[in-house]
Amino acid sequence: MRIEDPKIVAALPDLGVQLKPGTSLAELTSLGIGGTTDLLQINKHEAIPDLLNLLDAQGVPHKFLGGGSNLLVSDGELPWVVLQLASPTPDIVLEGNFAQVDAAADLGRTVTFCAKNDLGGMEGLIGVPGTIGGALRMNAGAYGMQIGSYVRQVKLYRAAARKLETLEGDQISFEYRHTSFAPDDMMLAVKLELPSKPYREILKGIRICNEKRRASQPLGQKSAGCIFKNPPGASAGRMIDELGLKGLSVGDARVSDRHANFFVNAGKASAKDMLALIADVRERVEKSFGVILEHEVVVWNA
Ligand code: EPU
Repeated sequence: MRIEDPKIVAALPDLGVQLKPGTSLAELTSLGIGGTTDLLQINKHEAIPDLLNLLDAQGVPHKFLGGGSNLLVSDGELPWVVLQLASPTPDIVLEGNFAQVDAAADLGRTVTFCAKNDLGGMEGLIGVPGTIGGALRMNAGAYGMQIGSYVRQVKLYRAAARKLETLEGDQISFEYRHTSFAPDDMMLAVKLELPSKPYREILKGIRICNEKRRASQPLGQKSAGCIFKNPPGASAGRMIDELGLKGLSVGDARVSDRHANFFVNAGKASAKDMLALIADVRERVEKSFGVILEHEVVVWNA
């Protein structure tokens, strides 16, 4: 979708919003799939309510993009504009055991920056692509930890109330790959409380997680991480593997040979290919195991 309304175009500079016309979402997502639309880059949180009021008043549909690492976007010209936060400098500020982190900060860099300052706990998330905001919204987790355990405060834009709000950790519920945030809430910043640990010790944990991940996941390939959530007490990857579906393809969308719950873009996969592959695998798992797999990947279907 193109922003042509002169009222919006004229207001953007004052709001500190940068318009990037005709942006390819394939270039902003780890799957390398997605059509084109106008991107609005937000440089100051305070401008968000005015920006969204303006877009709503002019009837411009929009979506919030984080790091694009857990996202499957439709092909072609997209029927909404995309909003993305620019990362301020510095994007991580430490005070004792607290880390105040901007939502646009890179997750991996946050883990290592905190580690170098003797703050641990997030070792399991090393190697998970994306931003802190995305990790927060999904309650990202791995190797027995989840980010929600460390969240003490969240600054967000509440779309329903149309205002910026600050929530305390105990006002938010964090479950397996799920949080109590509304789908249209926009994460802006988070305060984490992390346990003190010597850097050397954290580094050992980071190395172990890195090795495990390298051995079991297709890290060099374009993917969105795990496609399905694990059903209670079971592993989606193991079920798909047991059905012999590694390597199953629709066009260039392919079930990874390394981890069956990772679907990779092996070349020029379209969203249509990937969605067809997801539907096929889901159906086969349901037929054989009687289990309906739930998407972990977020799908923006136009
Ligand atoms: N397995 C297979 N074949 C496969 C994949 C896995 O037999 O192709 C078996 C493994 O051998 C193991 C079991 O299934 O016995 C579980 O596999 P793994 O340890 O890889 O964990 P997972 O349940 O598949 C989860 C998360 C990952 C996270 C890892 C490590 C979900 C959906 N997946 O995977 O998170 O990195 O544990 O903690 O919760 C993600 O969220 O995108 C993600 C990749």
